Amino acid sequence: MRRLSAFPPVPDPEAIAAAAEVIRSGGLVAFPTETVYGLGANALDAQAVRRIFEAKGRPDNNPLIAHVPDALVARELVAEWPERAALLAERFWPGPLTLVLPRRSIVPDLVTAGLPAVAVRVPAHPVALALLRAAALPIAAPSANRFTELSPTTADHVSRSLGEQVDVILDGGPTTVGIESTVLDLTGSTPRLLRPGMVTLAELEHTVGAIAPPPLVTPTSARLSPGMHERHYAPRASLVLVSPADVEREAARSGGMPVGALVLSDLLWPVQHPVRMPNDPAAYASRLYAALHSLDDLGCHMILVERPPDAPAWLGVMDRLRRAAVPDGAER
Ligand code: TXA
Ligand code: MG
Repeated sequence: MRRLSAFPPVPDPEAIAAAAEVIRSGGLVAFPTETVYGLGANALDAQAVRRIFEAKGRPDNNPLIAHVPDALVARELVAEWPERAALLAERFWPGPLTLVLPRRSIVPDLVTAGLPAVAVRVPAHPVALALLRAAALPIAAPSANRFTELSPTTADHVSRSLGEQVDVILDGGPTTVGIESTVLDLTGSTPRLLRPGMVTLAELEHTVGAIAPPPLVTPTSARLSPGMHERHYAPRASLVLVSPADVEREAARSGGMPVGALVLSDLLWPVQHPVRMPNDPAAYASRLYAALHSLDDLGCHMILVERPPDAPAWLGVMDRLRRAAVPDGAER
């Protein structure tokens, strides 16, 4: 695996050209987006896309997002481009919003997991955009981590999770948004939120009117959206959502093993590795995965997470925390 430095704001042209060549010849390139690092392959080449599933150890009934440099290329992959899509693309692209639309037949079944719709997104990252333009192909990319592990927000996270399984890692420094894109399904009569993210429900509704909430998760509906798998985005440590009043009791369950915490309040937390997190949801999201990665690296067996405010702006963060958390009453 080659690791090429491609720091923004000016992506290194040689690194981009080399990575684009790897994409064009059917290889795998990990690249930064504004949300998390993606593990990319030519979205129009089923053989190349198959390698993504193998590298991640991900079941191939999970559809992938096709990344494109602009809305014009997105329209080449979809069979319909409703007014809503145009409005949303105009307002939020490039940016952390993925749109699910009826697909055209040039999109391989493996990308959509056989579904009649394809997910498309224009990432807001100079390295990702330079790569998409140089490759001149749509790039299918899930997050660049092994299945069910934490998403990567640095090139180091990628190389530790996937290592030699990737042909090239483009290092663009830490990502800024920090959690995966908001996913919106535009195939029905009302747009439906499939995965909350930092483009908020309020912003979406402001642009296109009422949005239906995510469908309830059942084992069969999980395949609609891999982000809906119950345990997903999880650190190795057991993550427990707590209020400050419960910290002492929860920390005592660790049996003396190292405990970390993501802390919002100024209270003194009785744990070995407290990490102070910002009270602003965007800043919190930006640091979330890096904080969990670092607590895993410190060998924490348990991570206590102070429950963030129950407010719409925190929906994306809460969704990732809930999925990473140990279900109530489960073994810790
Ligand atoms: O921010 C992101 O979205 C990152 C970066 C790399 O772009 N990618 C990402 O990919 O998180 P992944 O594979 O981990 O998650 C893909 C999401 C799923 O949760 C699912 O909701 C949605 O995309 N998705 C993809 N294709 C779909 C389809 N045909 N129908 C419904 N949902 C789909
Ligand atoms: Mg993922």
